[in-house]
Amino acid sequence: MNVLVLHGPNLNLLGAREPEVYGRETLGAIDAMLEDEGRKLGIDVHTFQSNIEGELVTAIQDARGWADAIVINPAAYTHTSVALRDAIAAVGIPTIEVHLSNVYARELFRHHSYIAPIAVGQICGFGAEGYRLALIAASRLTKP
Ligand code: DQA
Repeated sequence: MNVLVLHGPNLNLLGAREPEVYGRETLGAIDAMLEDEGRKLGIDVHTFQSNIEGELVTAIQDARGWADAIVINPAAYTHTSVALRDAIAAVGIPTIEVHLSNVYARELFRHHSYIAPIAVGQICGFGAEGYRLALIAASRLTKP
């Protein structure tokens, strides 16, 4: 099984960025943890981060034909991006939305997600552990 893990804008700064909200783990450490977890689950994990909306759209389009599932933390694009939502809907690859923080316990503008209605599900508020939970959920999507 192949899973594409996408990280949106500013997540390259994890570890240094508002650690009281997003934790102290770097993105590199999270990606390494996911690759390790993937090996245990029999999943090839491919990770990609971009601060650019169009690059994320292209990565989703390019996942056609090889990715069995997408795990995405769209970061701020969660709350703004029709383009990301349309890309996910277009490729039809089961997608799990992840947020490190509990967005529903934060500002109102974070309560709306353009992605959630077309995602299989959403995991938020568990920090980096949320990515691991998403990977486990992905592993079970095609193994009922
Ligand atoms: C985030 C939550 C978003 O509201 C925010 O813009 C982010 C990170 C999270 O992981 O908690 O950049 O997606």
